[in-house]
Order: sequence, then C-alpha cells, then structure tokens
Amino acid sequence: MVALPVLQPRPAPATPPRSVRLSLTDRCDLACIYCRPDKRDGYLEDRLEIEAWKTMAAGLVRAGVRRVRLTGGEPLLHPAVVEVVAFLGSLGLDDLALTTNATRLARHARALRDAGLMRVNVSLDTLDADRFRRMTRGGKLDVVLRGIDAALAAGFDEIKLNAVVVRGENDDEIEGIVRWSWERGIVPRFLEVMHIGEGAKLKDRVVRASEMRARLAHLVHHQTEAIGEADRGPAKYLFARHDPAKKVGFITGTSDTYCKGCDRLRVAADGTLRPCLATNDGLAAGHIARGGDASEIAGAVHDAWKLKPDGEVWKGCTEPDAAAVSMRGIGG
Ligand code: 5AD
Repeated sequence: MVALPVLQPRPAPATPPRSVRLSLTDRCDLACIYCRPDKRDGYLEDRLEIEAWKTMAAGLVRAGVRRVRLTGGEPLLHPAVVEVVAFLGSLGLDDLALTTNATRLARHARALRDAGLMRVNVSLDTLDADRFRRMTRGGKLDVVLRGIDAALAAGFDEIKLNAVVVRGENDDEIEGIVRWSWERGIVPRFLEVMHIGEGAKLKDRVVRASEMRARLAHLVHHQTEAIGEADRGPAKYLFARHDPAKKVGFITGTSDTYCKGCDRLRVAADGTLRPCLATNDGLAAGHIARGGDASEIAGAVHDAWKLKPDGEVWKGCTEPDAAAVSMRGIGG
C-alpha cells in the first residue's frame, strides 16, 4: 500500500463549528517553557477593536456557535476583556468560559462573574514558587494563588486547573496538585506536552497520560475507562475513589490525538479564523469584522470550516509541521 500524503483539499466536517476560542490578545506576561522561548518574541501587529469583536461574536453565533472560550495569549491583558464578556454574556450562549494564567484574576474575577462569565480554567503547572518561576520564566506563584482565591470567592460554576506535565520539572507533583485542587472544589487536569511551537523541543520530556494515571491509581478508579464529557473538548476524566463528585482530567494531545470529531474553531487576535490548533491555515476575517456585518462573518466561518483537517489521516498536534505554529498566536 502507498502511504497517503497529507490530504489536500480536505473534506469539510459535516457539522458546523459549535465551539469557538477567541484569542483576545496574543500578549502574555509569562513565557512558559513549552510555549515561548522568552518574553521578547513578537506579537501580532493587528488586533481587533472591541466593536469588531462584537461583530465577530454575533457572526459566530449566527453561524451556529453555542460555546465560547476566551483565550490568549493571556486574555486578561486585553483592556476590554470585561466588556467583551458582557457582550458575549448577552448572546444567550450555552457556555462562556475563559482560560487564564491568573496573574490578573484577583482584580478581574468579580467583574467577570458579574458580566456573565460561567467558567474559568487556570493554567498552573506547579505549586512550588521556585519551580513556578522557572517554568514560567519569572512568574510569581503567590499572585496566581491570590487570583484563584478571588475566582473561588466569585462563585463561578466551575474552576479547572490545567497543568502541563514536563518530565524533570513537575512530574512528581501530579498527586499534590490533585489533592490541592480537590480540597478547593477545583477540577485538576493534566496535559501532555504537545509538539506545537516550543513544545516540539520537549519531545523527550513528554509524560504520557497512561503514566500520569498510574501515579494516581490509589486515588481514582482507574480500572474504568476514562470518560469524556459531551461537548466539552478532548479531556477524559477519572473519578475519585472516596467521592464520585471529584474527578481528574487528562488531555492526551500527544499519545492519543483527538482530532476526529473536533468541532472547534479558533479566532486569532487579528480576526483570522483558524480551523485547527496545529496548522497555520486560516482565513483572514478581521476586515470583515471591522465592516460591522455579522452575516458576512457567518459566511466567512463557513468558508474557514472547509479548511478543517479531517482528523483521520492528518493528526493535528503530532504532525511535524505543528512545530512551526505559535499556540499563543492561534489561541491555545
Ligand atoms: N503543550 C500542552 N499544553 C500547552 N499549553 C500551551 N502550550 C502547550 C503545549 N505545547 C497549555 C497552556 C494552557 C492551555 C491553553 O494550553 O498551559 O493551559
């Protein structure tokens, strides 16, 4: 049998995008080792204004989107983040969530909740201040912990903690992070390093989810198959032995790609519609958003969706080309 080349053109998925991630800004105040080489790498020149984001959001909903997550970069660095959340909150979405590094969560948590934000994911890889400084290239753990406290006090529907596991950095902390999270009513999740951008340089330090699960065997029912949540992305969960309401999630971007069935679209900070996290393919729609016509955005979403990889032959994050993608720019 002849090896199949990357399929070009690829058949568009049958279903329209239901879930979208908006990268409000590609700026970030940290430089995590699997994401950026340092804090001086470039930023997108062109960023949508608040009015353009509103047109973008309205157009996405018109195209069928029901779930929105704000990402970055670091979305809380965008000066109008609360206003964007309030607008999204007025659209009657099924889900409205935000992924943050929490360095600015203490000052924004209450306003975000009041504006209609339902859920928050905090990216936090370690509970050790020295390690945190090293893994983020200068971040202060105590600031992040205060941000998490503020989010807990604000009463979001759900708070998750996302920890990327890097061998030799934080792989001995998996159990500690689980216990710490469960004590606070937070859902811990562990991510395999994906070979995207800087992550491609850490290929020999990937900890596979099977190993992570083994380290938690005494805490969770690991004999049962980890289960996914409908409409909630690629994480699979195991449940605590002592309490069926507590769970821990795993995101296996490397050992088991989950491209098939992916219904996600991403919008970069400059308004480019991105059908996949792991390619630089996209359709520029910033000028359309600035034009103010939401129905034109809906048309662009339809066109961008045709660029969606099929997920069968082309396996997103593990493709060699993914090393050339900036997760920060595309809206991880
Ligand atoms: N591999 C796995 N996860 C990553 N993230 C950023 N880069 C990588 C990578 N190369 C995570 C961040 C954040 C989420 C948006 O993606 O830590 O939790």
